[in-house]
Amino acid sequence: MAFLTIENLVLHYNSPRGAVRAVDGVSLSIERPGAALGVIGETGSGKSSLAMSIARILPGNVGRYEGRIDLGGTELISLSNDRFRREIRWRRIAVVFQGAMNGFNPVMRIGRQIAEPLIVRTGESKATALARAEELLEAVGLPRGTARRYPHELSGGMKQRVAIAMALSMKPDLLILDEPTSALDVSVQAKIMNLLKRLKWETGVAMIFVTHDIALASEISDTVAVMYAGQVRELGPVDRVLDAPADPYTTALLASIPTLHGAATPRYVAGVAPDSVEPPSGCRFRERCPHAFSRCRSEAPRLFDAGPSHRARCFLAEDAS
Ligand SMILES: Nc1ncnc2c1ncn2[C@@H]1O[C@H](COP(=O)(O)OP(=O)(O)OP(=O)(O)O)[C@@H](O)[C@H]1O
Ligand SMILES: [Mg+2]
Repeated sequence: MAFLTIENLVLHYNSPRGAVRAVDGVSLSIERPGAALGVIGETGSGKSSLAMSIARILPGNVGRYEGRIDLGGTELISLSNDRFRREIRWRRIAVVFQGAMNGFNPVMRIGRQIAEPLIVRTGESKATALARAEELLEAVGLPRGTARRYPHELSGGMKQRVAIAMALSMKPDLLILDEPTSALDVSVQAKIMNLLKRLKWETGVAMIFVTHDIALASEISDTVAVMYAGQVRELGPVDRVLDAPADPYTTALLASIPTLHGAATPRYVAGVAPDSVEPPSGCRFRERCPHAFSRCRSEAPRLFDAGPSHRARCFLAEDAS
């Protein structure tokens, strides 16, 4: 049994035009504690919605929310909101949101901002929680004295480290990071990536790393899921998916990133992103796919085996296997 198993996860939002199919039948797994899954794909493909549906942080306009999420033997979707809040959130699944570093209370010292949720969740004394806050700051590479500072005294990279420290404060099994470095400049980004790699190794926390930046995903991920129109298009070991993609969308996405020494000019994935309310019939990528043929219009491909632990949502992968 894998450490995290997601089966047929669905998250639709209500909108005036109809159901927005942000997550539309996603199945994937993380095999063991301490492994990292990268989730990549274009804007609007459903990456954040997938992350938030696992952490059950949902907006008010949720339509359908169903499927199975098994985390270490506990099925999460069937838990009441109350139990999820008490037993899962922060304790077993923690999230570093896109822009978390801008969410601090500007008039509260950093130490107290880390300590207060600890006091609420564990009933620890103020002194114990503050001491623990300093330990957490040290664990994410900040001086203990950071506890006495206010948010405006910290750089973006430092604030992101604090957000990571807060997420780790209850020793979660799974840490979900949604674009954790996208607001930072490249050198700070590299340092945060090194921190995450070290934490993964030292604490054994499993990670879901959401990003549109494939190079970043490849740095930390053991496996990678490529999202398109609410579905997983390709899933497998990071080297396999990035070096030998089996899905034409992944191939197009990889061609769209600049390489340091590559001669080819990067290209955007041609065509427009599919409508999230009424996606194309059959294969959702067919309208942009250079290999599309008649079957792609009439039949929706499932995920086919494309090698060891490697799957792709394309009829060409079926023929190749
Ligand atoms: N609260 C909401 N209500 C209605 N539609 C939403 C809501 N949140 C997201 N969407 C839509 O759901 C789809 C998936 O959005 P999501 O934010 O999950 O994509 P993403 O892959 O994280 O994109 P990005 O790379 O821009 O962060 C998009 O069509 C988006 O417009
Ligand atoms: Mg997003």
